[in-house]
Amino acid sequence: MKKLVMALLDSLGFSLSPCACLSGRQGRGEGEGFGVFVLLTGLLLSACDKKVSSPPDNHPQSENATPPFYYDLGSTTVDVSGYPEKQRENYRVFMAVCGTCHTAARPLNAPYIDRDVWKRYVHKMHLKMKGHGIELDPGDEEKIEDFLAYDSQVRKIVKKEEFQTHQEKLKKLFEEAREKDRTGKSN
Ligand code: HEC
Repeated sequence: MKKLVMALLDSLGFSLSPCACLSGRQGRGEGEGFGVFVLLTGLLLSACDKKVSSPPDNHPQSENATPPFYYDLGSTTVDVSGYPEKQRENYRVFMAVCGTCHTAARPLNAPYIDRDVWKRYVHKMHLKMKGHGIELDPGDEEKIEDFLAYDSQVRKIVKKEEFQTHQEKLKKLFEEAREKDRTGKSN
């Protein structure tokens, strides 16, 4: 099983660098499929038990130093301490599922806001997981959508200007990193 997930991650070319997820979640899967998934990711991430807020400029791997999306460069966690209890629980599900193939930075810093758009992406990701034999409980899919819609409202709509400024910063970082990739390596 571990091999399977490793192969899956490998084939996707993604790394598991930040380990900000799963705290307190092992063994709490709701739904069998999700339980298995949590178990698998638990195996993979068993070495990580502390919260890591990785800085945007940490270099993940020797080749492909720059990840594919500018939003990958943002923070991999959100401070949900002010969120309602229900959303804090949804956040835990989100982190356990959506921070495995790529980091949670990808959805968290993506420009997407609308619930419908999130619904589409979560479903698309669910299909990807299915393709590799990993099931996601429909209830968990909904919890993740719910979190993403709520969190987008709080961080991307209410604090729109702050979010836009941050987006521009990430895009700039991304361009610089790509430029470095192009020019910095001779072999
Ligand atoms: C099975 C591995 C896997 C899991 C689990 C996964 N993703 Fe992805 N995700 C990918 C891959 C691969 C891409 C690259 C783009 C593509 O193929 O769509 C991606 C891309 C994305 C993008 C960027 C799409 C774009 O075009 O801007 C978002 C947003 C995203 N994922 C959100 C999520 C969310 C939310 C979850 C949790 C429900 C999740 N991902 C779980 C594999 C995964």
